Amino acid sequence: MRKKIILLTGPSGSIGSSIVKYFSKLNFKILGISRNNQLKLKNYFHYKFDLHNFDLYEKKITELVKEHGKIDYFIHSAGVLNLKPINIVDKKDIYNSFDINIFSAFLIIKLMKNKKLFNKKAGAVIISSIMSELGDSGMSLYSSSKAACLGLVRSAAIELSKEKKRINCISPGTINNVMFKKFSKKVNSSKVNELKNKYPLGLGRNLDINLCIEYLISDNNNWITGQNIVLDGGFSLK
Ligand SMILES: NC(=O)c1ccc[n+]([C@@H]2O[C@H](COP(=O)([O-])OP(=O)(O)OC[C@H]3O[C@@H](n4cnc5c(N)ncnc54)[C@H](OP(=O)(O)O)[C@@H]3O)[C@@H](O)[C@H]2O)c1
Repeated sequence: MRKKIILLTGPSGSIGSSIVKYFSKLNFKILGISRNNQLKLKNYFHYKFDLHNFDLYEKKITELVKEHGKIDYFIHSAGVLNLKPINIVDKKDIYNSFDINIFSAFLIIKLMKNKKLFNKKAGAVIISSIMSELGDSGMSLYSSSKAACLGLVRSAAIELSKEKKRINCISPGTINNVMFKKFSKKVNSSKVNELKNKYPLGLGRNLDINLCIEYLISDNNNWITGQNIVLDGGFSLK
């Protein structure tokens, strides 16, 4: 049977690399695009690419399709978190956060209409963040660019529904992965416990994200489209 093909941005990230490991074990073929790569795995193909090169997206994806076949699923896991008080944010910061968090996803979803590049019934998941629905100090760049993803999937889902393509966002809270462990070592342990205590079901796992994506892109998901699925162990309920 033909292996289903996933186009993944952000494969070198902590969540992104866990997506690669999880879906490669499920026998998907994963085409990862990012500037760096540490992964060498069965079913995984890495392409060095800076997502700021907006004009080259169609050319790059056409090359990948020529080599591997049409894409079945798109997962946008690339992201930048630039924590900055709003009074010192400059235009370059705004462009950089929006370029990676939303514009790059927007331009790839636009290509999902192209029948030569994406298979029928293709699915897409954008990894946004719980901060798309909440606010905090220093978070204006992150929150606004992640919130834009929610608007994108709502309208794109309607346009893509004609071809039975489904497109959704997931918005995770804090994941207890390598990144969090590094952060925990840098800050006071009381700060770490304070954060953990805000999660009624505890911090998330990479697996929680992978299982949700697996369902959303699968053929079993016949009906969920244009939605934002919050994965935060109850954090945003309090
Ligand atoms: N970790 C969490 O707890 C958490 C919680 C909620 C939401 N999220 C979101 O989940 C997603 C994945 O998170 P993560 O923890 O895996 O992030 P991460 O470890 O910081 O990785 C970020 C990824 O984005 C890619 N990227 C950034 N700028 C790029 C550029 N100019 N061109 C190409 N790729 C670029 C990086 O690739 P290169 O640097 O190799 O190019 C890397 O693969 C992000 O969107 C993040 O905002 C994370």
